[in-house]
Amino acid sequence: MPDAGTLHDAFLDEIRDLYDAEKQLTKALPKLAKTATSSKLREAFESHLEETRGHVERLEEVFENLGEKVRGKHCDGIAGIIEEGKSIMEEDFEETAMDACLIAAGQRAEHYEIGAYGTVIAWAQAMGHTEAARLLQQNLNEEKAADRKLSALAEGGINQQAAAIAHPDEEGELVGAGKGASRSSAARRQTRSRG
Ligand SMILES: [Fe+2]
Ligand SMILES: [Fe+2]
Repeated sequence: MPDAGTLHDAFLDEIRDLYDAEKQLTKALPKLAKTATSSKLREAFESHLEETRGHVERLEEVFENLGEKVRGKHCDGIAGIIEEGKSIMEEDFEETAMDACLIAAGQRAEHYEIGAYGTVIAWAQAMGHTEAARLLQQNLNEEKAADRKLSALAEGGINQQAAAIAHPDEEGELVGAGKGASRSSAARRQTRSRG
């Protein structure tokens, strides 16, 4: 019977999966940027594309640090998320609704990465691969910042603009709800306007 794999083998598998995922994202992010109407959203995708290229390089450093050759392993998870993003981009949505959908697609990818980096950092720390953990943490920090930036763009205007187009009769009230209004207070207003 062959020797069973260890956590270190699983760790290398996950790093190879992430390396492939990051490379797939360097090809997908330009398409999201190109489809975005909001210039801030386009810039967010473009700047995360630059960061993503840096993630690929940092993962190469991780392989080097572990004495492993640089190798990817097809990441089905991110491929599926990218595939869903492509389907959305083929839909005929008005511009702000499309921007909201692009944010949704982008955040799915970020959350996948955040989950994956969280795991490999914890495993690296548990196995004493301190330098690898440090490099992976830098990537994770940038994923979290990118995710927060997308939330800020969605909640700072894009969702409300798209909602105003979806429900033009409630436009005044939705705009009046202002930037900081919580979803529940907007929902209460909607209920009032209907009741
Ligand atoms: Fe990344
Ligand atoms: Fe990312």
